[in-house]
Amino acid sequence: MKLKIAVLPGDGIGPEISEQGVNVMSAVCEKFGHEVSYTYALCGADAIEKVVDPFPDDTFKICMDSDAVLFSAVGDPKYDNDPTSKVRPEQGLLAMRKKLGLFANIRPIQTFDCLVHKSPLKDELVKGADFICFRELTGGMYFGEKKEGEDFAYDTNAYSRMEVERILKEAYKYARMRKKHLTVVDKANVLASSRLWRKVAQDMAVNYPDVTTDFMYVDNASMRMIQEPTFFDVMVTENTFGDILTDEGSCITGSMGLLPSASTGEHTPVFEPVHGSWPQAKGLNIANPLAQILSVAMLFEYFDLKEEGRLVREAVDASLDAKVRTPEIQVEGGAKYGTKEVGAWIVDYIKKK
Ligand code: IPM
Ligand code: MN
Repeated sequence: MKLKIAVLPGDGIGPEISEQGVNVMSAVCEKFGHEVSYTYALCGADAIEKVVDPFPDDTFKICMDSDAVLFSAVGDPKYDNDPTSKVRPEQGLLAMRKKLGLFANIRPIQTFDCLVHKSPLKDELVKGADFICFRELTGGMYFGEKKEGEDFAYDTNAYSRMEVERILKEAYKYARMRKKHLTVVDKANVLASSRLWRKVAQDMAVNYPDVTTDFMYVDNASMRMIQEPTFFDVMVTENTFGDILTDEGSCITGSMGLLPSASTGEHTPVFEPVHGSWPQAKGLNIANPLAQILSVAMLFEYFDLKEEGRLVREAVDASLDAKVRTPEIQVEGGAKYGTKEVGAWIVDYIKKK
């Protein structure tokens, strides 16, 4: 297979983990005889500095012209601490999602047995937790009509039936491939938009009799996620709720540095870690590259390259078992490996397989 990949390293630790993702991708492609090419493009604070636009047109064109985007992270404290700044790195991410029509953000919450002790939850609660959150990514408050005045401001949480239907369809597709349990998370006791979500889901549920569909208010869901994370199989929710719940989900597993994600929709899909740009760690070779590397596994799986995806996951598991880990997940007394060293170990594993 021929794969044209747009690589968007972005800010902070982005370039360091991106490099490891690309190395792993190349090693797997070489092994399986795929022809892969990379085109690098600017985004985030890096793009603001260089061309005053966090998602420049050139980057958009490169993305549209590729089979997939391997994205790393954007964000810089310089902008976080200045609420008056007109342009922010995060706008680049939002523009990318909107322009590529990436309405489905797929965030798996998967626990690794060897890391359960790192979770803030008790071992017995976390063990075996394995669910996927489908977060709607191009609608709701993020993109609804807004007003920002001196003493008055609002954001609109608007959804159309079409927008709800298309993300639910994706979620049902995954539920069918998994444990056939879909939880629709909303706030239908208060919000009109949530009542639309619930109505649409109820209408669609009859077409998926093999899937158990249940409904949960978002406040309750946030509690259930830490009380009984194993309850969930596939969860689907709107943009803002999904943003919050997936951060909560990511800490259940013990390290945010392990969670990949995929965003799919109308145009080129994007594969990226759930974590951010961690500017304090920039250039220190301490960031965990595994979320980025697992994003590469998701990329292969998207193209139905199952064996390739499986090999990446196997290599990641092997690195954890061999205790080749970055500092934040290393066991006490274990040697500390850097971003580069973990990446290189995984590449080596793949080559020797
Ligand atoms: C995420 C991030 C973004 C979001 C920010 C950086 C705009 O938190 O991908 O979850 O809120 O969607
Ligand atoms: Mn978020």
